[in-house]
Amino acid sequence: RVVAVIMVGGPTKGTRFRPLSLNVPKPLFPLAGQPMVHHPISACRNIPNLVQIYLIGFYEEREFALYVSSISHELRVPVRYLREDKPHGSAGGLYSFRDHIMEESPSHIVLLNCDVCCSFPLEAMLGAHKSYGGIGTMLVIKVSAESASQFGELVADLETKELLHYTEKPETFVSNLINCGVYIFTPEIFSAIEDVFKQRKERANLRRVSSFEALLSATKALPADFVRLDQDILSPLAGKKQLYTFETLDFWEQIKTPGMSLRCSGLYLCQYRHTSPQLLASGDGTKKATITGDVYIHPSAKVHPSAKIGPNVSISANARIGAGVRLISCIILDDVEIMENAVVIRSIVGWKSTIGKWSRVQGEGDYNAKLGITILGEAVDVEDEVVVINSVVLPNKTLTVSVQEEIIL
Ligand code: GDD
Repeated sequence: RVVAVIMVGGPTKGTRFRPLSLNVPKPLFPLAGQPMVHHPISACRNIPNLVQIYLIGFYEEREFALYVSSISHELRVPVRYLREDKPHGSAGGLYSFRDHIMEESPSHIVLLNCDVCCSFPLEAMLGAHKSYGGIGTMLVIKVSAESASQFGELVADLETKELLHYTEKPETFVSNLINCGVYIFTPEIFSAIEDVFKQRKERANLRRVSSFEALLSATKALPADFVRLDQDILSPLAGKKQLYTFETLDFWEQIKTPGMSLRCSGLYLCQYRHTSPQLLASGDGTKKATITGDVYIHPSAKVHPSAKIGPNVSISANARIGAGVRLISCIILDDVEIMENAVVIRSIVGWKSTIGKWSRVQGEGDYNAKLGITILGEAVDVEDEVVVINSVVLPNKTLTVSVQEEIIL
């Protein structure tokens, strides 16, 4: 029996995702027309003997209630949201719900970060884990040496795949092999987390002997019940024949910013070609818009037949796309209206926004750059013939003049 756990974090973690996280918890922001968390959840469908999926986070319960009930129904696997009263860290959060998780008597726990985009090769990882033994197997990937320091860098044995050394976001380069935030564990992971609690307690008792040291550490120390999976568990267990690695050669990205969500939306649209081709717009038929590349259009959206759409475009519920509109590489959210002959390129257009006739909303930079794409928050009005380039516009603004490289507060 297998249980899957997806760590969804909470509102304070979503600040880099503003202004989009003002409306919706980041895990529910749509990528390729489906909530971010939906992609790892769908990947869990392929796990044999999966009995339960838990989402663990510190968002309000009601924010996830609707999604959790509809997805449970669709997958025919119970999906439950478990709320932490405060952040306990990636391992501490898992540990706080150990009783719930162990109720199912799982032989394995699949643990996933919610903010990564990949093909989630979970079945293959489970198979590999069973052959390696130990308490855990983590998904790893080779990235460029320049970008590696944003992640957990690691060294693995080339033959046995054992994790030999692990450093979280090191200042000096260790390796371009990094942690993807996707794991298979046996229930022994709970004993490993418990050991960290015990060591912390012992250290705290020792410190009490010296009051000066206690004063020093009180300012630096994390709360006793806050345990990070990477620094507190993976680093100390490396090289002890407990942890193994499984390298993916497929796509992998982290989703920390709106720019990265646009890129990942494109990666998931591309994946639909193999996994869910029925979700991709075809553009066949004389009355339909011209579609190029991978495009998702919600069935309730209205798209004029003379519009030209794609590649990497996803259009959410009740959006209206007018005549002669051109959309390239963008996410159009619910209830947006785009009027005749407007152009939207490398941008995210927030809920209920309107873009006037002959307007141009465009990003021209890198997905990773701060102002690399244009983002319109909820209910932004761009008037006719206005040009918006590489800008972020907060909710409820009206743009009457053109702007470039600006944050409109
Ligand atoms: N429920 C809950 N409670 N979730 C949490 C908490 C918490 O207290 N803290 C973090 N998370 C969730 C986040 O939402 C995210 O999905 C995951 O745990 C990891 O978040 P962080 O601990 O902030 O780490 P990170 O994303 O900067 O880096 C981790 O993931 C990278 C891959 O994306 C590390 O494990 C890196 O080594 C790794 O490369």
